[in-house]
Amino acid sequence: MKQITQAAGLQQAVREAREKGLTIGLVPTMGALHEGHLSLIERAIGENDMVVVSLFVNPIQFNNKEDLEKYPRTLEADLRLIGTLEGAEAKVVAFAPTVEEMYPDGEPKEQYSFGPVEEVMEGPRRPGHFNGVAVVVRRLFDLSQPTRAYFGEKDYQQIAVIRALLEQIKYPIELVPCPIVRADDGLALSSRNMRLSPEARAIAPVINATLEQAAEMAEYEEVDDVKEWVLDTLATFHEINPQPNGLRFEPEYFEVVDARTLQPIADWSEAGDLGAVGCIAVWLDGVRLIDIVKF
Ligand code: PAF
Repeated sequence: MKQITQAAGLQQAVREAREKGLTIGLVPTMGALHEGHLSLIERAIGENDMVVVSLFVNPIQFNNKEDLEKYPRTLEADLRLIGTLEGAEAKVVAFAPTVEEMYPDGEPKEQYSFGPVEEVMEGPRRPGHFNGVAVVVRRLFDLSQPTRAYFGEKDYQQIAVIRALLEQIKYPIELVPCPIVRADDGLALSSRNMRLSPEARAIAPVINATLEQAAEMAEYEEVDDVKEWVLDTLATFHEINPQPNGLRFEPEYFEVVDARTLQPIADWSEAGDLGAVGCIAVWLDGVRLIDIVKF
């Protein structure tokens, strides 16, 4: 496995691979790798001759300073984990640049506009977030010139934004969305989970369990009723199941949207070719968790 910290070094490795006609997979990450990331990297190894795994905590996509400061940085452990994957030694280039290396001219000024897909859910609640994601992802596209790029479906809206970015910049990159990886108890794996107290971690799977029940309800209930039930179930969980230290779920939103356009639907029949998806953001123990369910 190659480890590179300089943009020029990555460009050189990519040039050599391109000259040999090799395919390149890109797995952008912010490090703190878990099984979810590893599943993306494994898939990329299976489908490409060379795989660039970027490990970069991108400051410009954090709209909350505390979240940026608290974001786990575990480079040594991350590299060890990648090294355990079959084929990683031969194929993976781990790119872990500094902020100065990624943004040598200071904070980037580019402004993207993605229209309706960024005007719902995470978009208005995290001003500047998707622009920051688009800026770094484009930079990673430019440096690694991938054949395919792999993104996890937990950040469902991010995938729609990257799809819109690719349409705008017209790079011939295949976007590969990958399914959520869950812990045995159903909690969607996330680097933020490690910030949960043991008590909070113990009840966190209620989010997924509630969404799974919502998927069953969708067979016979209206969209609005399912939405209300999900929000109520989580918001009142602590009343029915008393928790220590005032621990409780505080849902920020639960939206039922068209899976392609991400626009809210009022009736199941409004969902287009990809169906409907429910997207949730919930605060628990000072940690913001997100998850999705496909209807
Ligand atoms: O999904 C993430 O971890 C980040 O948003 C990404 C795509 C690596 C960009 O920093």
